[in-house]
Amino acid sequence: LVINASRSSGKQIPDTFMGVFFEEINHAGAGGLWAELVNNRGFEAEGEKVPSSLHPWEVIGDKPAIVVSIDQTSVFQRNRNALRMEVHCDHSSSCLPDGVGISNPGFWGMNIEKGKKYKVVFYVRSTEGIDLKVSFVGTNGGKLASSEISGVGVNASTWRRVERVLEATETNHYSSLQITATRKGTVWLDQVSAMPLDTYKGHGFRMNLFQMVAELKPRIFRFPGGCYVEGNVLKNAFQWKQTIGPWENRPGHYGDVWDYWTDDGFGFFEGLQLAEDLNALPIWVFNNGISHSEQVNVSAISPSVQDALDGIEFAIGSPTSRWGSIRASMGHPKPFDLRYVAVGNEDCDIDKLRPFYLENYPIFYDSIKRAYPNIQIITNCDASKHQLPHPADLYDYHQYPQTAEDMFHKAKELDSSPRVGPKAFVSEYALNGGDAGNGTLLAAVAEAGFLIGLEKNSDVVSMVNYAPLFVNANNRSWTPDAIVFDSYQVYGTPSYWLIKLFKESSGATFLNSTLQTNSPTLAASAISWKSPVDGKSVLRIKVANLDKKAVIIEISIEGLESSVSFSKLTKTVLTSSNPMDENSFSEPNKVVPKESLIQNAGKIINVHIDPVSVTSFDFNM
Ligand code: AHR
Repeated sequence: LVINASRSSGKQIPDTFMGVFFEEINHAGAGGLWAELVNNRGFEAEGEKVPSSLHPWEVIGDKPAIVVSIDQTSVFQRNRNALRMEVHCDHSSSCLPDGVGISNPGFWGMNIEKGKKYKVVFYVRSTEGIDLKVSFVGTNGGKLASSEISGVGVNASTWRRVERVLEATETNHYSSLQITATRKGTVWLDQVSAMPLDTYKGHGFRMNLFQMVAELKPRIFRFPGGCYVEGNVLKNAFQWKQTIGPWENRPGHYGDVWDYWTDDGFGFFEGLQLAEDLNALPIWVFNNGISHSEQVNVSAISPSVQDALDGIEFAIGSPTSRWGSIRASMGHPKPFDLRYVAVGNEDCDIDKLRPFYLENYPIFYDSIKRAYPNIQIITNCDASKHQLPHPADLYDYHQYPQTAEDMFHKAKELDSSPRVGPKAFVSEYALNGGDAGNGTLLAAVAEAGFLIGLEKNSDVVSMVNYAPLFVNANNRSWTPDAIVFDSYQVYGTPSYWLIKLFKESSGATFLNSTLQTNSPTLAASAISWKSPVDGKSVLRIKVANLDKKAVIIEISIEGLESSVSFSKLTKTVLTSSNPMDENSFSEPNKVVPKESLIQNAGKIINVHIDPVSVTSFDFNM
């Protein structure tokens, strides 16, 4: 492997190169990164897989001691359901020792940890001065924290907001939240929320999941989907206006593609906020009037266009503008740094079997450019092989190959793509199918070949995202994924660790290198960058070996001044004894990069490359 390490011979990889794509899939947000513990907090849930609007709440106690129903008497205009609870027992009659009431299991259990504080908020009204108790309860029925609210309401028409901070005295990772009463009377409850106090900057993002994403140093953040944006039917598409403003007044919606209800606590604002917190540029994918089964035709598209324009105003408009003022009221008067929007997801049909995308896109494009000339617009139409039928700043490029070999070489498709015109946004890639399992080493090595190919083509590739980012292990509707979690644990799949090995590529210099081999299972690249910490240069060589045999490679570094020497050479290897090895909650570090130091490295060295591995060599100069 011959590397020309002279920076002048290289080319700059875009600053935006490595990013992340967040989709509400696999409970990535609801029951995941969004730290809300209550599932269906407003009793609004509905949809094909939702048995009732009470789901997954359970009733504690039996009729006739307690009768629970849903009515439409909520104080909140956009979500009218409220829970009505008639309590017909008290201490002296048939009440359970702790009273009767309702219980919410969260998302496969709530993680309640000893010494940590949780803010519980709910809305309540009652016809009589009923006493309530709110508690976190462990799987063995033991109370982890509780608080009493006495004499709730005497006037049935007045809702009261109750807020309590509960400190846990024990840990239980699969707890539930209970609200119980021990006195006769009728009580209505609505918008019940429980959030840990320690979320990232108090912004509501679960700490350990936020940290996992932050460690990837993403430069861009595409959200909120994927198919989630489209919906199977438009009624169930992501409608950003329904997801902003006070959380209590968000209607929530059934994401019918991934088949679950979300209260939309993680809405449009939270996506923009998360991008900012990650120091990444947000890329908003908006619905363009197309779902998996419907298409709005050109004569009726204006409301969708206005919706997109309003969304941009919400993100970057002045705090006195109509939509910017709502953003300001949510605590962010300063505009977000929204520079990119994508018109839909996977909606372009270049063969015009479904013509509406091609007809509607120019209307979105022209209207957005007229109002916001600096916004970069991403089309769903692939420009790697065809000339685009319309203007665009970037085009989406998705790759989900089914075999490791195919994935390894996939980026070669871009070798022959036009060098002028819009660049590719590889907004989704991952190995899919048998070789990939739930995230195998083999998948990561195959993806390394792909990413090396994208680095080589970074003159025509602007940004790159793995997909999907998250999976709650209790709801794998799409596998594999980069980050796996449950109510409290988290680990990265080998693909996650691979992305980390590429995080320095954003803005780095891609160096000329020649791998002198005909092997179809080897790929290599070299980049260099100046460390922001000490200003010193780092040269990183990455080698991916898809073969089941080890190889010895001679690395020869040319083009450096003779006075340059290496202070340190760090070798980092991602491999394992079996290509199908995966990480898991019990073995989260089975397949993770392992570092070692190589002493006395010169400008020519022979290195051992493990079978099915990705190896990086960092030369510190
Ligand atoms: O990443 C999972 C899904 O794959 C996305 O929702 C969609 O865009 C693609 O088909």
